[in-house]
Amino acid sequence: MKKITKAVFPVAGMGTRFLPATKASPKEMLPIVDKPLIQYAVEEAVAAGITDMIFITGRTKRSIEDHFDKAYELETELEARGKKELIEIVRKTVPKGVNCIYTRQSEALGLGHAVLCASHIVSDEAFAVILADDLLDNKDGTPVLKQMVDVYNYHRCSVLGTMNVPRPETRSYGIVSTENESGKVQRMTGIVEKPKPEDAPTTQAVVGRYILTPRIFDHIRALKPGAGGEYQLTDAIASLLKEEAVLAYQFDGVRYDCGSKLGYLKATIEFGLRHPETGADFAAYLGSRFGAQDKPAKGEKK
Ligand code: UTP
Repeated sequence: MKKITKAVFPVAGMGTRFLPATKASPKEMLPIVDKPLIQYAVEEAVAAGITDMIFITGRTKRSIEDHFDKAYELETELEARGKKELIEIVRKTVPKGVNCIYTRQSEALGLGHAVLCASHIVSDEAFAVILADDLLDNKDGTPVLKQMVDVYNYHRCSVLGTMNVPRPETRSYGIVSTENESGKVQRMTGIVEKPKPEDAPTTQAVVGRYILTPRIFDHIRALKPGAGGEYQLTDAIASLLKEEAVLAYQFDGVRYDCGSKLGYLKATIEFGLRHPETGADFAAYLGSRFGAQDKPAKGEKK
């Protein structure tokens, strides 16, 4: 059985919600505590058995290539200072047996267009798409992309990672309709991009994890550009599911929208609280600052 070995990371977006931080550097390099978002995403891919990381980059994205390259000068300098642990941290950014492949999207013409830029590298295999600004965390359980690869291996068709959102928020997501109301894995009957809450068919939203069959490329090529000349992946998926089964999979885990300031801050707090170096002190700081922990309720003796 052919395994999924390739993941596409579209990182060519403009990141306007994070300006000015994203003026000259990619939002995917924003750190959550001490690791950039793109590294969390690559680690999730590695945990799912993926070996070929295909980055769709653009202008101002050079630091992503540098991050996954060897850093000779830095390593030599750290070696001279005897900083063994730090050398290990630097080296670990590129896991063993992983190939990094870069291709450019010269104009930000939408997620569908970005994915299409990988077609000549992906060729005729099912592949994963990971949007690194969606940080998916399943703490001590199976990482989300691995869960989805398991679903793919069983059903052998495209799988979209989904979660339920409050109805007023449907206008921020691709929303799926499915054959059944319940169940973690459901066959999709439709998908619409950013519907108004009153028009949304369900509240099941697509987040930044996809496993797609290579037929998707034909469906992207057949798209007519939408608003702003953009080619939407959602439209291509809507067309694909008329021809092939596409599954919505409600993953186990929590999603942080790190493309937005609030989601980014929430992730920073959660990961900061569990980081071995900062966790205890950070918790104490938050407790002293906001009185959340160990504070006796009114009238209660400590
Ligand atoms: P977003 O919708 O989050 O857009 O793209 P963005 O430009 O990155 O951010 P904002 O909304 O302006 O703040 C979703 C994903 O698709 C990639 C982005 O890098 C992001 O990971 N993308 C989007 C591309 O690679 N190319 C595009 O043309 C558009």
